[in-house]
This record gives sequence, structure tokens and C-alpha cells, in this order.
Amino acid sequence: MSVYEATENVHNSTPQRTGEVEVPEGHQDVVDFIQKSYSLKPKGLVMNSLKWKYLIRSAVRGKNIMMTGPAGCGKTLAAKSLINGLDRPNFYFNLGATQDPRATLIGNVHFDKAKGTFFSESLFVKAIQTPNAIILMDELTRAHPDAWNILMTVLDSGQRYLRLDEADGQATIKVAEGVCFVATANIGNEYTATRQLDKALLDRFVVIEMDTLSDEEEHGLLTYLYPTVDTDLLQNVAKISFMTRQESLTDNPRISSGVSTRTSVEIAGLLFDGFDLQESANITIYPQYDADGGVDSERTFVKQIVQKFIDDGSNDDLV
Ligand SMILES: Nc1ncnc2c1ncn2[C@@H]1O[C@H](COP(=O)(O)OP(=O)(O)OP(=O)(O)O)[C@@H](O)[C@H]1O
Ligand SMILES: [Mg+2]
Repeated sequence: MSVYEATENVHNSTPQRTGEVEVPEGHQDVVDFIQKSYSLKPKGLVMNSLKWKYLIRSAVRGKNIMMTGPAGCGKTLAAKSLINGLDRPNFYFNLGATQDPRATLIGNVHFDKAKGTFFSESLFVKAIQTPNAIILMDELTRAHPDAWNILMTVLDSGQRYLRLDEADGQATIKVAEGVCFVATANIGNEYTATRQLDKALLDRFVVIEMDTLSDEEEHGLLTYLYPTVDTDLLQNVAKISFMTRQESLTDNPRISSGVSTRTSVEIAGLLFDGFDLQESANITIYPQYDADGGVDSERTFVKQIVQKFIDDGSNDDLV
């Protein structure tokens, strides 16, 4: 365990960041802060005001927050907007992309000729010791189950520590005051890489479900992002997305998922750059749908929806 003793010394000498962040303290201050917090939401994020307030409240109260919802609906964007809005020290970890959870969350043992074996702690170890930090754990559902096991004690309000080595009960790092964890998850969606999140781990979070946007909200977002693009064209994009989402929610859907807001925003950007709707759909929407089954395929179905709006558009042009 000598490798970890060195780490303990490092921790004792780690400067603590305090006094830099304004965290509301008295109860009335907290209540006022939450009530006024809608102004902290950036215009470019479409999110229900109650849910945004709940997000802020959960962060201020140091809850562990889990953002859920289908792909491309704004989970990561909302989490990043929270970080910007509260102006706290922050750390970002994409757990879905991590091959080695121990190295990412705990650290690595290295060997050096001069120093011998030594332990270098992960950025995560530094993050949890930073008072009032907001720690974003993106794509937690895609993480390796080893990561979930390591996080169990960290996220438990009664424990709040990270064990550096499971074999040695001594080497633990305490989570600093005011640290808030924000995770994102695609729960129950079509992604095969998304593992079913352990129930015990999920229980440690407050869950905030992101809603998918209505066609009007999406049209508003696209117009806000690309005010110079023809608004009717953007409305067609929003309607196409909305119709595909509606279809995917029916009892007997012809497509398993709808076009996401991420894809709508991407299409709007292509229109802005001079592509037409047909071209944009060709490169962004169709590849997401299976062409197997010919006329009965998901792709054919989506093409029919898109075509309807393209035909409408060209008819307008003729008139
Ligand atoms: N609610 C929303 N408000 C504003 N923009 C949105 C919203 N949802 C999606 N977008 C747009 O889509 C992009 C992708 O969103 P984001 O990365 O937050 O999705 P996600 O829910 O985290 O998706 P994934 O599950 O694939 O990680 C954003 O950068 C933004 O342009
Ligand atoms: Mg995301």
C-alpha cells in the first residue's frame, strides 16, 4: 500500500479553493435564488421552466442529478448550461468513452527509475476535493459497470468518499463540501451500448427528465439559432422532426425513433450554408434509418414524410 501513502500526502497539501464562489446560504436567500433562477437559463436552451428551476435547486442543495431523455434532446446542453449559470468550479468526464474506469476515476500506478513505483491520482480525485465544484459525468449509462461500483460510495449521501483501493479501507478521499454531481443518461432508449443502469446507483440521484420539444418550440429554437434562414423552411424541419417523433410513440410505430433536436439543428445549419432540404435530409436523416425491407423499411417511411414537405415547398415556389 506504499503507493497510496504518497497519494495521501499529496492530498493533504492540495490547496482548497474556498471563498471564491457565491453560494446562497440562508434559507430565504436560497428560496429567492431559486425563484429568480430562470434568468440564468441561456436562450439557446429550450427547457421547461419548472424543470430548470428543479435543476438549479438540486444543484444548490448538493443533490446528485441525473438528466434523462432520448438522444439529442439537450441533456448535456442543460448540464453544461447549469455549470455556466452557477459559475462554479467545474469538471467534465465522459464516462461513456472511458475504457478504463479505474484510471479515469482513481488514477494510475506508474514506475519511474528514479522514484520507483508511484501513484498518480486522476483528475476526478482532484475534482471531488474542490469545494462547490460541479462534476459532470456525461453518459453514465454507457459507462463500464466498474465505474458504477467505484461511484457507489462517492454518490451515497451517507458516505461521500472515494476508496482508492478496495483492498485497503484506509485510503479514502472525502468529497468536499458543496460538490454536486450531474450525470446524463439515455435510459431505455435504442442504444445497445447503453447498459441498464444499476438500480442501487440510480437511487442515489434526483432524476430530471428532459422533454422532447414540440414542433413550435423546435421552430422557435431553429429560428433563434438561424434567423436569416427562411422561417417556413425551418418550420418544415421542425414539423418533420415532430412527425417522426409522434410516429415513434404510437402503439404500432413504423419507425423506432424520431428525428432528434440535434439533427434538426444540424439540418438548419446546412440550410444556412446553402444546402436544400432534400440534400440535408439525404445526409443527416436517412442514414439513421434502416433501408432493409425496401418499400416497408423505416427509411422509406421517413422519406415519405420528408417528401411531403419538399413537395409542399416546391408547389409554393411555382405559385
Ligand atoms: N432542448 C434543447 N434546447 C436547445 N438545443 C437543443 C436541445 N436539445 C438538443 N439541442 C441541440 O442538439 C445538440 C445536442 O444536444 P445534447 O448534446 O444536449 O443532447 P443529449 O441529450 O446530451 O444527447 P445524447 O443522449 O446523444 O448525449 C445541442 O448542441 C443543441 O444544438
Ligand atoms: Mg449527451
